[in-house]
Amino acid sequence: MATPATKSTISIGDIFSAAVGVNQHVLIEGWLRSVRLSKGGFAFLSVHDGSCFDAIQVVVDGEIANYDAITKLTTGAAVIVEGALVESQGKGQAVEIQASAVTCVGDVTNPETYPIAKKRHTFEYLRSVAHLRPRTNTFGAVARLRHQVAFAVHEYFSNNGFVWVNTPIITASDCEGAGELFRVSTLDLANLPQNGYQDDFFGTETYLAVSGQLNVEAFCLSMTKAYTFGPTFRAENSNTSRHLAEFWMIEPEIAFADLHGNASLAEDFLKSVFSKVLVACKDDMHFFAERIDPKCIERLEGVIDSKFVRLDYDDAIADLQKTDQVFEFPATWGADLQSEHERFLTEEVYKAPVVVMNYPKAIKPFYMRVNDDDRTVAAMDVLVPGVGEIVGGSQREERLEVLDSRMTKEQQQELWWYRDLRRYGTVPHAGFGAGFERLLMYISGIDNIRDVMPFPRVPNNAAF
Ligand code: 4AD
Ligand code: MG
Repeated sequence: MATPATKSTISIGDIFSAAVGVNQHVLIEGWLRSVRLSKGGFAFLSVHDGSCFDAIQVVVDGEIANYDAITKLTTGAAVIVEGALVESQGKGQAVEIQASAVTCVGDVTNPETYPIAKKRHTFEYLRSVAHLRPRTNTFGAVARLRHQVAFAVHEYFSNNGFVWVNTPIITASDCEGAGELFRVSTLDLANLPQNGYQDDFFGTETYLAVSGQLNVEAFCLSMTKAYTFGPTFRAENSNTSRHLAEFWMIEPEIAFADLHGNASLAEDFLKSVFSKVLVACKDDMHFFAERIDPKCIERLEGVIDSKFVRLDYDDAIADLQKTDQVFEFPATWGADLQSEHERFLTEEVYKAPVVVMNYPKAIKPFYMRVNDDDRTVAAMDVLVPGVGEIVGGSQREERLEVLDSRMTKEQQQELWWYRDLRRYGTVPHAGFGAGFERLLMYISGIDNIRDVMPFPRVPNNAAF
């Protein structure tokens, strides 16, 4: 075992972005993607370090002292390489490293059992080795994308005067009212106390948050613009390619704003994040376009260049009813739009992102503002070609009497503080929620949500 280098290391990303010139001495640290021996007594190492999409080629001369040991290295071994950066003789890369020293820091003790061979693996298989899949091209690209999108989200809100609020992860309320809650408790299930939850840690029933919205509203009604971006949890037993039990949600909230202000914010937010990503993740996006989804870049460019269509739910239903298209579920007023309806509207009817507004009151949560017609609420879903709903939000009910009429007695008691906000300086306000992983799926074209989450949590699987 060698100790890691103390000399200054350069990342492979910096080398490729021309931070050093040809013929300079460089020191890199990384893992072997492959080892190839040439007939002329050379070894070619392909080394990656996560800093960029491409691996760098290292040429090792047979004269190097530990050459024999180097030729025995295999995919996955960790190395430190020193040498001169030179123009590449071969095809496929502009520069390569002519090694003067190669140190093995950690080898692969048993190459036959190394789970990430050089060949292509299925995504399904790679989920079973989630601790090593970041070593692959695809999952390295996803990790960088995830980071850059998170960064773009914070940058967007910060540049636009929003305050990031860390809303609680443990909560006593079910914001969405869907009953998909994970319980949080320190009670001994095998030995429950007489007083029930009164004896539990918080003295009441508590859960993992399904949304940070209710709490972020409190900050919106003092900071004017606030957002929360953090993990949320849903125990819905939907074992689908679009659902996780643990996912991240972006939830902005704006005061003195109505549904149209909210739709404008969503449009501006999506365009800004997509524009940033096309620049910040250029190589990774090219890889996604080449290997995952040929349309992913033009889809983002399409959204950036389009003007979002705004459409009432009533008109969306009318559109869906007058077409000859056959749906699995016919569209009827009063029912939620199915994914097939959403995609038809955005892909076929309007050929642009669509904001559907003003949904039937009966299918939406208590906090959405009741419209004057008393049959709809000021809700909105943003639908984009390729996936359908990407963002959902609403104007919030700021009138206490109306809010109370939409809450159960139990909810009124539990959410006394939320009701208080309607008593002391209440104002029209609105916000939305964007599923972070759904955004990543849309951007990359990766069609299973488990492949954009580092360690996905789904029914019957909390491994890693
Ligand atoms: O539509 P939802 O349930 O809205 C809310 O939670 C509101 N409180 C948001 C708000 O107005 N502040 O969820 C918002 C988004 C969905 O559009 C979807 O992208 C994502 O969260 N989402 C999920 N993503 C992954 N796995 C799941 N199980 C998800 N459930 C919702
Ligand atoms: Mg929704």
